[in-house]
Amino acid sequence: QRARIEFDPRFTVAEVPERLFGSFVEHLGRCVYTGIYEPGHATANADGLRQDVLDLISELGPTMVRYPGGNFVSGYRWEDGTGPKEDRPRRLDLAWGTTETNQFGLSEFMKFCRTVGVEPNMAVNLGTRGLQEALDLLEYANHPGGTYWSDLRRSHGDEEPYGIKLWCLGNEMDGPWQIGQKTAHEYGRTADQVARSMRYIEPDLDLVACGSSSRGMPEFGAWEAEVLTQSYESVDYISAHAYYQPRDGDFKSFMASAQDMELFIDGVTATADAVGAKLKSDKKINISFDEWNVWYQNAPTGEREEPWAVAPRQLEDIYSAMDAVVFGSLMITLLRRCDRVTAACLAQLVNVIAPIMTEPDGPAWRQTTFFPFAEASKFGRGKVLRVNADSPSFATEKYGDVTALHSVAVANEDGTYTVFAVNRDLESTLTLEIDLASLGGLADVTCSTLTDDDPNAKNTLEEPTRVAPVANGDITVKDGVAYVELPAMSWNTIRIA
Ligand code: AHR
Repeated sequence: QRARIEFDPRFTVAEVPERLFGSFVEHLGRCVYTGIYEPGHATANADGLRQDVLDLISELGPTMVRYPGGNFVSGYRWEDGTGPKEDRPRRLDLAWGTTETNQFGLSEFMKFCRTVGVEPNMAVNLGTRGLQEALDLLEYANHPGGTYWSDLRRSHGDEEPYGIKLWCLGNEMDGPWQIGQKTAHEYGRTADQVARSMRYIEPDLDLVACGSSSRGMPEFGAWEAEVLTQSYESVDYISAHAYYQPRDGDFKSFMASAQDMELFIDGVTATADAVGAKLKSDKKINISFDEWNVWYQNAPTGEREEPWAVAPRQLEDIYSAMDAVVFGSLMITLLRRCDRVTAACLAQLVNVIAPIMTEPDGPAWRQTTFFPFAEASKFGRGKVLRVNADSPSFATEKYGDVTALHSVAVANEDGTYTVFAVNRDLESTLTLEIDLASLGGLADVTCSTLTDDDPNAKNTLEEPTRVAPVANGDITVKDGVAYVELPAMSWNTIRIA
């Protein structure tokens, strides 16, 4: 089978936003404890952060990290994670049925962000709490000093304000599982009030209102419309969350999961723009896709059954080669739509549906999904270009006919180009023809490919490097066209220099 693409540096979609390569650290399972933070670990630094994990995070390349939840935030008292560690309370975490020791909190998170070099994205609790606690937290975090909360921060050893710019106003407030779930009207009003009041402290914050927890939510669309009707002028982003997994053995539809993500983005932007039009506003609300991933939601969750355990093994999905290819395709969608998706967070970072796994007191390793993210973060910087594509299709039960080729082209800042391409067909190799005519004579084409004869192949503690991208030598360049062989079910990073 053959597919062809062409693009021209003069025709761009948008500059790739720095916040597109975000990730997420929630107090859930072992994401924090024995994930990023394990003071007794052989590699731990003076702040208790695991250096082996920090090294993998810098290789992964996230630019922003959302914290502390997720569902967790809807029952969280942020003050519990501040001050001397020996005085911090142990609390029940109702979201995940565990005990939270609070040995890691805001100050530790900020040290983590500074060490890794990522922007913090902080969520406030609008489940069990509300306006006053959000304002207290903002004052504690960002006010320089001379007030109760800011001086408390200083007395805790953090003299300088944290300067957190990006804030999530609650989490998944439409979900029946959410502590303190609200109707769209209740939440929209609250989000507006909280946003406006936070701006009294600091006008130029970037604020994210909760959109639907998934495109499948019964109120999807209506929720966004009502929330934004209440809060349009006071917030900057509306959030979107999406997780994908194969259902009933339908792997073809699973390979095409990005179709759902595209429809989700279309639906949210259309709804946000309709609200803006009705309000006669010049402002555009963009999407913070602040949770996305493959997640096997019905998989056994290990120690989750033990009630109120401290940092048990929860949501520790081990990803296959096929999962990584689907994941790469989701990443391609985020890049293709980065004119309106201007922030995104891979959920999550370590151990919990994560690209990085650890053992307590043991090693850390890369999951299959690590590689598409790392390559996208490394080579997906610059400007996304409009791509004209011609590709064969295959039939899916869920999405009808879907093109085998899913791709995006990026003009990198150094004058080179990167094409990320997924062959979504599970059976056939695709010969991808790339027209180089508009690329100013560049003809040095290389490709890194992640695939596996066994779609179920995984990286595990016993075999941590089973799946990884390899150099793909199946390339010819002739008469201004590059021909790259994309194996069935593959993620490919093609560099043109
Ligand atoms: O990322 C895991 C969970 O998924 C988050 O806590 C929640 O926001 C979502 O439902």
